[in-house]
Amino acid sequence: MKICRNIQDFRRARAQLDGTVGYVATMGALHEGHLSLMREALNRADHLCVSIFVNPTQFEPGSDYESYPRELEADAEKCRAEGCELIFAPDPDEMYPDGHATTVQVEGMDDVLCGPQRPGHFDGVATIVTKLLNIVEPDVAVFGRKDYQQLAILRRMARDLNLPVEIVGAETVREEDGLAVSSRNRYLGEAERTRATCLAKGLARAWQRWNEGERDADALVDAAREGVLKGADPEAIDYIEAVEPDTLRRLDGRDDSTVDDGVVVAMAVHIGDARLIDNLRLDGALPEELADYVNG
Ligand code: PAF
Repeated sequence: MKICRNIQDFRRARAQLDGTVGYVATMGALHEGHLSLMREALNRADHLCVSIFVNPTQFEPGSDYESYPRELEADAEKCRAEGCELIFAPDPDEMYPDGHATTVQVEGMDDVLCGPQRPGHFDGVATIVTKLLNIVEPDVAVFGRKDYQQLAILRRMARDLNLPVEIVGAETVREEDGLAVSSRNRYLGEAERTRATCLAKGLARAWQRWNEGERDADALVDAAREGVLKGADPEAIDYIEAVEPDTLRRLDGRDDSTVDDGVVVAMAVHIGDARLIDNLRLDGALPEELADYVNG
């Protein structure tokens, strides 16, 4: 496995790979969620490339950019164990040299969910992912469904810009008690870790109502809120919303809030110092880690 710190080196090494390339973009601090994306990418392609880059343009001022964990050696080991052949791990100056002036913006998809609280965040994500896809030139790029809004925006971006890559969404990896695996879980103390299952409880309740035949977005969001309130105060909830899966059009809070199967219920909740996000697409079976919360 080779680690390339600049674009030229990476392109040279990438050109040696014969066959299809699967790609996972990361900001490092790799956990089981990232490793599952790597497995999915390697299932779909001959070679695996991973990028590790803490992207400054997607962090809002005052957020955790400086303190975001940087553990390249440990991350590289994990990539190697998953069969990764090439890591691209540039410095910020390599990706954003002086005079960098271009931003990629996907319109109309960041006025819901995390968008209002994170102004500019998704422009930063769309810009860096466009640049990374242009450098890595993968056949398939795998992103987690846990960051549902990011995935929907990147899908739209790839379609609109005719990027020659298949964007694949991979299932959220959950702990046994339903908590979605995330780099930010490390900020949770013991009691907070227990409370954090309230997001899973909320999603399970929404799913239960949907499974019983409820098709009103407001009622599904209310059910999710009931579950979340088991572990969080109302003011700790940034949002709980129901959106259309492809367009992210908001469905709750409207005169006619009837939903189709496939509606996504998503939430962001502060537990201690961690802002946790999670979501569930209501169109089929409940993830097994959430099953205990149904009727609970
Ligand atoms: O999901 C992430 O880790 C980041 O947003 C990504 C896709 C690597 C872009 O910096």
